[in-house]
Formats: sequence, structure tokens, C-alpha cells
Amino acid sequence: MSELVIRRLLVDLKTPLPRRWNGGDAFRSAMFNALSMSFPAGEQVFIDSVRKGLARLEGPARERFEAEARGFIGQEATHRRIHQLFNEHLEKQGFVNHWEPRIHRRIRRLEKMSGQEPRAWLAVTAATEHLTAILAEHLLTHPQQLEGAEPRLRDLWLWHSSEESEHRCTAFDLYRALGGNEKWRRRLFLMVTWHFSTDLVRQTLHNLWRDGALWRLSTWRSAWATLFGTAGLVRCHWRTWRRYLDADFHPSEGDGTQAERWLAEHSDLAPPVSTPRAAA
Ligand SMILES: [Fe+2]
Ligand SMILES: [Fe+2]
Repeated sequence: MSELVIRRLLVDLKTPLPRRWNGGDAFRSAMFNALSMSFPAGEQVFIDSVRKGLARLEGPARERFEAEARGFIGQEATHRRIHQLFNEHLEKQGFVNHWEPRIHRRIRRLEKMSGQEPRAWLAVTAATEHLTAILAEHLLTHPQQLEGAEPRLRDLWLWHSSEESEHRCTAFDLYRALGGNEKWRRRLFLMVTWHFSTDLVRQTLHNLWRDGALWRLSTWRSAWATLFGTAGLVRCHWRTWRRYLDADFHPSEGDGTQAERWLAEHSDLAPPVSTPRAAA
């Protein structure tokens, strides 16, 4: 079990964001804005899933997971709060969040399909956490993704990335501890990937349209470089994405060294509020 530290993030989120805050690049700003729009609702699902999973465990198994689950919940709750503040700026700039209501509709659908069965929720959470761990590793190892961004905003995204990398095993291990099977783990991963990527594309396009940048050649040049160029997200990580479908996959095989380094070097910016044990 890994020790997950709950931290505060000491960055200024009162000062308004520049409209194209990510280095003046319309595509990168629109795509990261879209991701941020999904986080408050999505991360609430992760929190609830881990809570449901933990409640189902008993005895030594529960004791084994308790501290890690509390750390996970604390980290995701902080991410939610920070991204809510970030999203308030986007709303003031006239961007409209269409992703969040779609997440709420899917939650209702999953409730109808599986009720409160924690394994279904954890399979969805573990799948999404694989996608966020990929994104996290990419941001931490490819500084060009946040090139030219204001330091406070770059810190925000790298802090979130580092904690995503740090807790990438929690939902997966809990799913396994509850006897979740491989068939449903893979099936729900494919479903989550489909919904996540189509929602990301739709919200990014909408953000670009609101920004007046949808039909500019420079936007699509940046989109190509960001996703499919030599340092592009899809090009660098499709094999890592695919690994989730293998029976011997475990999220610990991802490289967490950059995340550990970032957190160690920025302890003044993201100091611990408590350890999981202290929070218990
Ligand atoms: Fe998060
Ligand atoms: Fe997460």
C-alpha cells in the first residue's frame, strides 16, 4: 500500500486567467480547459467509488486499504476544489461546460445498470485513472505541452499530474481486492476510453468555437503537434493505453519518477495538510 499525502496547493487562482493561458496557443488552451471542465464531476465519481469499495471490505483487507483510500479521497477532493476555481474563470470568459451534464447522465445510466455495486464503479474509476495517469506522465515529461503558460497555471497542472501519478494504483488495487474480474475491467476500459475521448473532442471543439479559433490553420497545426507529432500525446502513449487490456497489466509499471521529483522539489508550493493516518 502506498502512503498518499494530502496537500494544499498555494497558487493564485483569484487573478483572472488570460483567455489563451497556455502559451497563447488556442488549441492547447481549449483542450486543457475541456479537461478541467470534466474534473469536478469526474473526480466526485472517483471519490464515491473508492468510498463504496472501502465500505465493502472487512477485517484486515479493510485495514490494509483504509489509509490509502483516505489519501486518495483527500487528493481528489483537493483537485475538484482547485479545478472548480479554474472553471469559474472559464465561465466568466463565456465558455460553456457541456461535458459535465453528460457525466451526470452517464452516472445515472451506470446506477440503473449496476446499482451501487462497487466493482462496476471501481472498474470505471480504474479505467479513467489509467487515462489520467497517461496524461500526467506526458505533461511531466513533455514541457512543450505547457510551454509559455503562466508559472502559476503550469504549477497547477503539474501538481495535479504528479498526484494522479502518485495514486494511480488505488482504484485498480481496490477493484482486484473486491474480486473484480478481468472481462469487466477490459470492457469498461474500452467504454470509458470511447466516452472520454469523444467528450474531450466535443468539448475542445466547442471551446475553440467560443474562442473564435475553430477555423484557423494555426489551431489545427497545434492540434496535430499536440496529439500526433513526435512529442504528441497519442503517438507517445498509445502502447501504454493498450497495455491496460493485457491480463498482466498493473498501473505500478508506469514511470512515477518525474512525479516524485516534482512533488519533492515543490513542497513549498504544495505542502502536506495531513498524512492519511493523521486524517483517519
Ligand atoms: Fe485528480
Ligand atoms: Fe485520480
